[in-house]
Amino acid sequence: MNASTIKAGVMGWPISHSCSPRLHGYWLARYGIDGTYEALAVTPDDLSEQLGSLRDRGFAGVNLTVPHKEAALEVVTSLNPTARAIGAVNTVVVGADGNLAGDNTDGFGFLENLRQDAAGWSADTGPAVVLGAGGAARAICHALAMAGAPEIRIVNRTLARAEALAEDLTGPLSPWSWDDRGAALAGAALVVNTTILGMVGQDPLDLDLASLPTEAVVNDIVYAPLETPLLAAAARRGNPVVDGLGMLLHQARPGFEAWFGRTPEVTPALRAHVLGSNP
Ligand code: ATR
Repeated sequence: MNASTIKAGVMGWPISHSCSPRLHGYWLARYGIDGTYEALAVTPDDLSEQLGSLRDRGFAGVNLTVPHKEAALEVVTSLNPTARAIGAVNTVVVGADGNLAGDNTDGFGFLENLRQDAAGWSADTGPAVVLGAGGAARAICHALAMAGAPEIRIVNRTLARAEALAEDLTGPLSPWSWDDRGAALAGAALVVNTTILGMVGQDPLDLDLASLPTEAVVNDIVYAPLETPLLAAAARRGNPVVDGLGMLLHQARPGFEAWFGRTPEVTPALRAHVLGSNP
């Protein structure tokens, strides 16, 4: 590393599970950029100091992961409208004057993944059904609303959380109870699972797909396993399916571009590399 090496990284606690160093490391090598991307173990108590000293330590910026995304709202010096609406920051860019600009690229990553992998789908195609009402659902609902979805049905086990989300964001959002999740699929153009159901070690998502049009796109943001029971069931009845790895890869693009000055691509080789099958 020399003085011109551009530095970036990801702050989290714990951080060892993060795929981001592998992902950005692939792009740095692929494009021959003199840069580094480190995993940074940062406790909640240290977040403010660690972000505040980025410029002095020569960092162009960082990604933030659990548990720092919400706390960073109070630390960055500016928030773009997306991060403000979502109420979480996952990308920080250090400005020339040392200011810290906070962005949230999760919704961007979600939409770009569908644009790349669900041919013919666009947000205005028809109603979207979002299962779950946590942080990921919030970013996804915001992105769908901004992209012109005509109706967004938020289905959540705890109805009050779906109601709060529908109330908080601007757009054609409606809360649905968990018991009505099968009925919520009628006439939908898109279904997204943002709950933990279907993840390795969790129960599968119990969802009757009978009411779902066969042309509706089914997306799971769970990516371990890549083919969740939901995606397998949807594929069996002929629905187009999109797995969750792409959202993770696409959400990384704006940060990489801002820090390293190159628009990176999401390719099959990148997917294989991040999955560990292509070291
Ligand atoms: P994130 O911020 O990653 O989206 P989260 O805030 O923990 O994570 O949200 C997890 C989602 O999975 C929530 O919508 C949660 O439902 P509740 O709001 O009712 O907790 C949902 N979830 C978790 N376990 C579930 C289960 N067994 N059945 C149905 N939904 C479940």
